[in-house]
Amino acid sequence: MTRVFSGIKPTGHLTLGNYLGAVRQWAEVAQHRTDALFCVVDMHALTVDHDPARVRRLSRQAATLLLASGLDPELCTVFVQSQVDEHARLSYVLECVATDGEARRMIQYKEKAARERERGGSVRLSLLTYPVLMAADILAYGTDEVPVGDDQTQHVELARDLAVRFNQRYGQAFVVPRATHPKVGARVMNLQEPTSKMGKTDDAGPGIVYLLDEPDVVRKKIMRAVTDSGREVVYDRVARPGLANLLDILAACEGGNPEDLSGVYESYGALKKDTAEAVVELLRPVQQRHKELCADPAYVEEVLRLGAAKAREMARPRVDAAYRAIGLLAG
Ligand code: TYM
Repeated sequence: MTRVFSGIKPTGHLTLGNYLGAVRQWAEVAQHRTDALFCVVDMHALTVDHDPARVRRLSRQAATLLLASGLDPELCTVFVQSQVDEHARLSYVLECVATDGEARRMIQYKEKAARERERGGSVRLSLLTYPVLMAADILAYGTDEVPVGDDQTQHVELARDLAVRFNQRYGQAFVVPRATHPKVGARVMNLQEPTSKMGKTDDAGPGIVYLLDEPDVVRKKIMRAVTDSGREVVYDRVARPGLANLLDILAACEGGNPEDLSGVYESYGALKKDTAEAVVELLRPVQQRHKELCADPAYVEEVLRLGAAKAREMARPRVDAAYRAIGLLAG
């Protein structure tokens, strides 16, 4: 059976981008058809300036939202990265396979490091090694497929390169994974800045729809989305990015095609109104279930405890084998 692994980083509240680009596919497709693991990758949240209490809170919230989005612990394994030591163990081994140049070429590293330096802050070493830990997350489980949004493609490519290199040098230990993306919604853009990704770590702003935003807040954000000058509704991601983003979001909500939808609308206002309602309806059941799960934190804790135990068992033999293969006296 195909093995799937994917993760989400608790650096902020989950957004519509996370949902349409990743989580919805996990819940609607992956958990039913594959042997899947989904992880709140809390160690990745320490790579930038962080508040420990906030990371703990956001990790619990992310896990609760994954369950609220429909991940079913009877069908897949849901867990928190720091509760399974194999990720950090394997990450070190992969650091001995990756090169410094490879890590420095990662676009997200370059962008985040530049932003941090502009602010006069220092860049944590873990920001540079982050994609290697991500490769460890993936490779520890013999993962075939990694369902992610577009922005993670380069990181999954690195995981592939490291798997191939390790296997060639030290003997077959890892499956070579590949990234998969949803047809529509793989890159949801910021509503106020439609040439930038809708990212959860950005400052809370009117351009980001959070999964837990109240319906009226969602409506307001979408109705105020920046659109382009021009009047007809056409789908052109380069020339009309604001409009294309709304068409993408609506198409992703309805399971349609953004190009087909463009012919249906005569005004931006009508498109915004339908998009807002579609997002409100999409989020309604997730928010309802989230509320129920918040009333039962012991259930969520138990799901995570059992998930971590299962994940540990799955990862351990492969990580031990990699330790032995690379020359360590692993038990
Ligand atoms: P993270 O936490 O930034 O995002 C989680 C998932 O959501 C997708 N995503 C988006 N998709 C479409 N439009 C957007 N605006 C948008 N924003 C985020 C991401 O592509 C991702 O699939 N490095 C990863 C976490 C990670 C991971 C892993 C993923 C760590 N280890 C192993 C897969 C496998 C990250 O920062 O995702």
